[in-house]
Amino acid sequence: MKVTMIGTGYVGLVTGTCFAESGNDVYCLDVDQSKVDLLNGGGIPIYEPGLTELVRRNADAGRLKFTTDYAEAISDAKCVFICVGTPQDENGAADLKYVQSAAEQMAPHLTPGTIVICKSTVPVGTNRRVRGWVEGVSDTQFYSASNPEFLKEGAAIDDFTKPDRVVVGVDEEEASDALHELYKPFLRTEKPFISMGIESAEMVKYAANCMLATKISFINEMANICEEVGADINDVRKGMGHDARIGFSFLFPGAGYGGSCFPKDVRALASLAEDNKVNPRILRTVDETNNEQKNVLFRKLSDYFDGDLNGRTVAVWGLSFKPRTDDIREAPSLVLIRSLLEAGASVKASDPVAVENVQKELGDSIEYCEHHYDACQDVDALAILTEWSEFRNPDFDYVKLKMKAPVIFDGRNLYDPKKMTERGFYYSGIGLKPNENNG
Ligand SMILES: NC(=O)c1ccc[n+]([C@@H]2O[C@H](COP(=O)([O-])OP(=O)(O)OC[C@H]3O[C@@H](n4cnc5c(N)ncnc54)[C@H](O)[C@@H]3O)[C@@H](O)[C@H]2O)c1
Repeated sequence: MKVTMIGTGYVGLVTGTCFAESGNDVYCLDVDQSKVDLLNGGGIPIYEPGLTELVRRNADAGRLKFTTDYAEAISDAKCVFICVGTPQDENGAADLKYVQSAAEQMAPHLTPGTIVICKSTVPVGTNRRVRGWVEGVSDTQFYSASNPEFLKEGAAIDDFTKPDRVVVGVDEEEASDALHELYKPFLRTEKPFISMGIESAEMVKYAANCMLATKISFINEMANICEEVGADINDVRKGMGHDARIGFSFLFPGAGYGGSCFPKDVRALASLAEDNKVNPRILRTVDETNNEQKNVLFRKLSDYFDGDLNGRTVAVWGLSFKPRTDDIREAPSLVLIRSLLEAGASVKASDPVAVENVQKELGDSIEYCEHHYDACQDVDALAILTEWSEFRNPDFDYVKLKMKAPVIFDGRNLYDPKKMTERGFYYSGIGLKPNENNG
């Protein structure tokens, strides 16, 4: 089957490559010539574990092609997936300008019977608008479908090839049947293919992301209460999570969620609710709670240094919004670093893969260190923002030796506070009582 992905970012590149891996002829189309040139030259524009090998194998086999040419990519395609970005606009709603442009550019090249599928996360009603945009340019008959994507960066290939479920929204059975065929290789373990109306499918994605974001903000609020009342969030989490009605997933306290999805999706659904005269109390609070949470580590650092960070140097371990990705969109690390710089502190930062992206944002306002140990040289404190595996068991004696004072603010609760006391560190996590050492 000829399948075309419009937009070759995290979603378009991963899903297009996986469709190619299951034998389809896939075109990945993008307006970004440099990205397409890089891919055609054997490079990969993003960091995603396992992706490089998969892209190369399928490109070498001739099943995966990269282009900026709409005519080449769209003509004769059976399925055209829209995977362009849907960032938030100035009011917090989803900005659909890339979706509109994709729809209008593909329209002249559509073949009768093609299925145009929105995989981008879009507000309810967008697929109907896509139909209008295409019909404004062309009168070729086509099917519309919504197919929300649930992959997570850092585990994207596994998530896509072994999904918990596939959701599609359609008007006609023909479109549902064709998509079911396309997805069958990934559903061999009897995971469900759930077909529903287009509006419901569009809503599923927002509802799922908002639920997950709510869990994170909830546990962060519990952590903040724990700190004030002398409880330990690690114990509370265990006591809660073993309740089968609650479970453990997405109940890790931290420095706030970031990334290209949760922040914008929570705001976009809230905005959609308001447009429809529904008061999104929970969604607004989730967003507000998360924004505040991104300041928690700065507040702790500032309190520790009696409100005066001027002239201090802080090491930051972890810049990406989560491990196993180089994505820094809405990352809590950026919020902390900007606050530290504003307060007159210097920052030495390290991340296994995200440094290049941060350099584009922050330039030389901070020092970048290749190894996370180097970032600890002569610093007054260390802040941990991303739970990369290599940060979990560092050589604490060496870290202590490098630092001016053994002071750690851990935004991901990686270490055992008791052991940190024994190791001689002042250690402050999220929702934990800081230990007795004073650094
Ligand atoms: N990143 C994720 O983890 C994830 C997961 C699920 C869903 N989503 C959703 O998928 C969508 C895409 O997200 P992403 O992270 O892949 O975005 P991205 O920014 O990584 O990639 C989008 C790509 O679309 C290209 N593009 C823009 N306009 C175009 C046009 N008219 N024609 C062709 N290409 C065009 C851009 O150049 C860019 O390469 C968003 O709606 C997002 O919310 C993302």
